Amino acid sequence: DLVVDFSDTGIVIQPTMYGVFFEDINFGADGGIYAELIKNRSFEFPNPKMGWHEPNSVRYSLNGDSGFAKVTDYVNGKGNKRYVHVMVENDQRYELYNEGFRGIGVKADAKYDLSLSLAKNKGITQISVALLDTTNTVVGQTNIIPKEHEEWQTYTATLQPNKTVAKGKLKITFSGKGSIDMDLVSLFPQETWKGRKKGLRKDLVTLLDGLNPGFVRFPGGCIVEGMNLDNRYQWKKTVGAWDERELMINRWNIEFPNKNAPDYFQSFGLGFFEYFQLSEDLGAEPLPILGCGMACQFNSGELVPLEDLDPYVQDALDLIEFANGSTNTKWGSLRKEMGHPEPFQMKYIGIGNEQWGPEYFERYKVFAAILAEKHPEITVVSTPGPFPDGDMFEYGWEQLNELDVALVDEHYYKSPEWFLENADRYDSYDRNGPKVFAGEYAAHPKDKDGIVENNWQAALAEAAFMTGLERNADLVHLTSYAPLMAHADAWQWAPDLIWFNNLEAVPTPNYQVQKLFSNNPGTNLIGITKNDKPLTGQNNLYASAVIDSSTQEVIFKIVNTASQAQEVNIKLKGQDVVAKGTKTVLTSDGLEEINSFENPNNIVPQVEEITAKEDMVQLQLAPRSLNVVKFKI
Ligand code: AHR
Repeated sequence: DLVVDFSDTGIVIQPTMYGVFFEDINFGADGGIYAELIKNRSFEFPNPKMGWHEPNSVRYSLNGDSGFAKVTDYVNGKGNKRYVHVMVENDQRYELYNEGFRGIGVKADAKYDLSLSLAKNKGITQISVALLDTTNTVVGQTNIIPKEHEEWQTYTATLQPNKTVAKGKLKITFSGKGSIDMDLVSLFPQETWKGRKKGLRKDLVTLLDGLNPGFVRFPGGCIVEGMNLDNRYQWKKTVGAWDERELMINRWNIEFPNKNAPDYFQSFGLGFFEYFQLSEDLGAEPLPILGCGMACQFNSGELVPLEDLDPYVQDALDLIEFANGSTNTKWGSLRKEMGHPEPFQMKYIGIGNEQWGPEYFERYKVFAAILAEKHPEITVVSTPGPFPDGDMFEYGWEQLNELDVALVDEHYYKSPEWFLENADRYDSYDRNGPKVFAGEYAAHPKDKDGIVENNWQAALAEAAFMTGLERNADLVHLTSYAPLMAHADAWQWAPDLIWFNNLEAVPTPNYQVQKLFSNNPGTNLIGITKNDKPLTGQNNLYASAVIDSSTQEVIFKIVNTASQAQEVNIKLKGQDVVAKGTKTVLTSDGLEEINSFENPNNIVPQVEEITAKEDMVQLQLAPRSLNVVKFKI
C-alpha cells in the first residue's frame, strides 16, 4: 500500500514551479512565434537579397522583361541600414519574389496585413503584390498605386488568399518605366495572439498559455552569450520602433548537428518589450537572462576584462529601469512610449548562461554586489554549468555556497534512463545552499533516422523525474523543459516541446506531461510514501502529492514505468476526501510512439471518474502511464 499523509510539511509549492524557457532556436522567433511572413523584410541580412529572388531582372530575364533592384545604404542608417532602389526599364515590368521562412504559410479566406514603405517614385504606375502557391498560381492579390513623393510613406493593403498554402511565396510586380525606392516589406496574419498588429502567432501562444506557466525565461540559452561578444544578445537593441531594431546573426545560424541554417538571423521583432508583454499575458513572472561578459564557451569563449565590465552591469540596471522604473526615467519612459506605462513587476534576473570556471564567478560577483546594493528586491539567478566532463554541476557548488547565491540554473539533457535514475536527485541536496532553477532539461532517447524524437519513452521518464522535482519543492523553485519550439523544416536541436510548421503546431507527449504538472501544481506539498519511503522507482513507481488550498483538492501524480498494469491501494492518512474524484491518464502502447502532424492526438490525456472508499483509494495504473488523481477534500 501507498500512504498519503496529509500532515502539514510546511513546504509551499512556488507559483513559479512550472514555467517555460523561450529561446530563438529552431526558428522559434523569426519564422516561428513572431508572425512575420517575409524573410529579410528590410534587406538587412549580410547578403541583402537573401530570401529574395529576381527571375526577370536585367541580368536573368529570358523574355525581355527588365529591371533591377539595387541594394542601397541609407545615409546615417542606424538599425535599418538599407533599402532597395528598383528600376524598371523599357516600359516593361520587374518582379521580386520573397520565399518566406521555408515558404509562406497562408490559410484560405484568412486576412493578411501587407505593408511596405516607398519613396522617390519616378514613373512606376503600379505595384502588384500576389501570394503564389507552389505551382506559382496566384491565390491572392492586391494592387498598390504609388504616388509621387520624395519622403518614405507606408502603404498598406489586405491580402485574402482563396486557398490554403503551406509553402507559398510573395511576388511583387512593378509596372511602368522609371524607378522607386522600397523598404520594410511586411506581411502578417490579422489573426495574431490578442489581435496585436505585427504580433505573435496565435496558435503557438495559445499552446504556451495552455501550460499555465509560472515564469517565462528568455531570450536564451546560448544566444544570450553569442558566438563572440560582438554578437551577444543586447536587449537595448531589441526595444523601440520595430523597424529600427538592428538585425543580428543568430547564434544557431550554424550546422548543428546536421541542419544548416545559413539564413537564420534575429530581426528582434520579438524583443524584450514583447517578451515582458508575453509574460504578462501568460500570467507568468518574466525571467530575463543577461550576458555576463563571456561569449559562449562552446564557441570563442571571448572574455570582457573585469575592468571593462561596467557597460554589462549597466545593462542590468537599465533593464530594471525599463521593466519596473518610473515613467519619468529614461528607460521607464521608453516602456511607456511602447504602450506599457505600468511597470512589468520584474522580480528575477539571470546572469550568464552555461558559464563556468573562476572567470564566471569573478564576473557574477560584480553583478551580484551592485544588484544587491541598488535592487535588493530583485532575485539574481546564477549559472554554474554544464561542465566539460559531461557530468555537470558538481564543480562550482562550493563557490555558489560561498557567494550565497539565491538560485542556481541547472541544465541537463540526458537519456531517459538517467531521468529515471535521478528521480531522487534533489533528495540529498543541501537545504542551506542555493535554491534550484532546473532551467533546461529534456530526456533524449536514442535517435531514429537521425532525429531524436519526442517519444513516449522520453516523456514518461520526464514525468517520473518531475515527481522528484515536486517532492523537493522546498529546494526546487523553478523548472522548465528545453528547447520549447522547433520548426519542422528548420530545426537545429531535437527533441523540443512544441513542433510547428507554417500552418500548424503539434504538442508533443512531453508537452502533455508538462501541461498535466503545470495545471495541477497545488499549493502545499504533502507526503506520498511506501514503507515510509518516497517513491523513486520501487516497483517502477514514482509519485508526489500536493494539496491545492484554493480549490480544496488533494492531487497525486503517480507514474508507472512498468510494462504491465499495476493496482495500488492508497491509504489516506489524516483527511477524508469526497468519494468521487478523477484520474487523468496519459499513456501509450509503445515507447517509440510520438505525436505527429498527421496524428497530433496520438498521446493525449484521458479523464476517468474514480471513487474513494472511506480512507482508501484503489487505483488501476495502466502500463507506462502518468496518472494525475484528484479528490476534493
Ligand atoms: O536549449 C538549447 C541550448 O542548450 C541552450 O541554448 C543552451 O543553454 C544549452 O546548451
